[in-house]
Amino acid sequence: MDIKVRMEGMEISQERIKVLKNEAGVALDRLWSGKEPMTGWVQDPLKQNEGNLEYMLDVADIVKQEAQLMVVIGVGGSYMGANAAIKALPKDEDGIEVRFAGINFCSAYHRELVEEAKRRETVICVISKSGNTLEVKAMFDIFKGVLREKYSSDTDIANHIIVITDEQTGSLRREAEEREYISFPVPRDIGGRYSVLTPVGLFPMAVAGIDIRQVLEGADLMAASPAWDHDGTDYAITRFLMMADGKSVEVLEFFDTRLACLGEWLKQLYGESEGKDGKGLFPVTLNFSTDLHSMGQFLQQGNPIFFETAVIVDDCGYDMIIPEGELKGRTLEELNKAVVKGAVEAHRKAGTTVVEIHIPQLTSYYYGQLIYFFETTCAVTAMIMGVNPFDQPGVEEYKEEMRKYLVYKEKV
Ligand code: PA5
Repeated sequence: MDIKVRMEGMEISQERIKVLKNEAGVALDRLWSGKEPMTGWVQDPLKQNEGNLEYMLDVADIVKQEAQLMVVIGVGGSYMGANAAIKALPKDEDGIEVRFAGINFCSAYHRELVEEAKRRETVICVISKSGNTLEVKAMFDIFKGVLREKYSSDTDIANHIIVITDEQTGSLRREAEEREYISFPVPRDIGGRYSVLTPVGLFPMAVAGIDIRQVLEGADLMAASPAWDHDGTDYAITRFLMMADGKSVEVLEFFDTRLACLGEWLKQLYGESEGKDGKGLFPVTLNFSTDLHSMGQFLQQGNPIFFETAVIVDDCGYDMIIPEGELKGRTLEELNKAVVKGAVEAHRKAGTTVVEIHIPQLTSYYYGQLIYFFETTCAVTAMIMGVNPFDQPGVEEYKEEMRKYLVYKEKV
């Protein structure tokens, strides 16, 4: 694999990591057994998508030719993966703008998006595994209203709607079939936050102009990589040991602003997979150097409840030379590298464990590897912790409580 984990200078000894290798191996075997529920994402990401890949690319081509904007309506696992990839990755020139709705109930946010959808040639893509999430239902109805203002016939309206939902059940699947929307399935054995390498993440990426085949090939390499067994499991074990040693926060640090939303995706992946039965590390994200000027003080000398995971792009692919002044001739990359080294060293000297995760460049291929790396790491750590990485009873409780407040009546 091309993702490298560096853990030099850590407090945790190799001996302690070694002791847990067996447990990590058991977790990996469970993931790969094909018998564990909700592990459909583990094996052959490219092959899993083969049936839909050409269709996804064909539909994406049509959308790119005919629309200027695609509004994706989805929340949580049905939003964060695509959003993170679109913010991070290079895009072909023919990709169109993809924006997200249904990520909250904020009228100020959605008002602006609705106005934009009215002005521009817009396609709506609704993504919900359950088909039942209120943010999504509310915004789908609002955007159907926008389409109704723009187009007179039901066929025209239906031609501007694409649905990604459970392949068999739910009200969204029923509506897609009744009204003959174009649709893609969310595989039954893959949960929301692990679904970025299914149509949930891939289709919006393709419309934005990202090479999704490369993303899948990267993930495939990881799925087939024996090296994962070393670096990846060491990181997974370290995360568990940190919790066992009393740390309660994992600070995920990024030095490239294109990865800021990957941090949001990771927060969901880690937080929702591990935060149960009174266990788990609370994931926090910081973007450097910006946050070194605010949270740097806490990281250096504050309450040591945390350890750090620094996600570093080795070659950002761009550079700028400072043309004059004290730093004349230096480049921004050089300075950013100094920030990486300076922050990691200073925090290690202060006694903090800092894990470095290196990605060679921000390409679709390496990004696919990174996604798979984090998904597997997360599942292994959760299994060593003894919690189910694939359920989210707390989220379901919130959804239930909210429904009660609204006295929401479902139409069956
Ligand atoms: O990871 C999860 O399961 C959740 O975050 C869901 O993705 C989120 O609640 C949205 O659910 P749905 O896709 O069913 O609308």
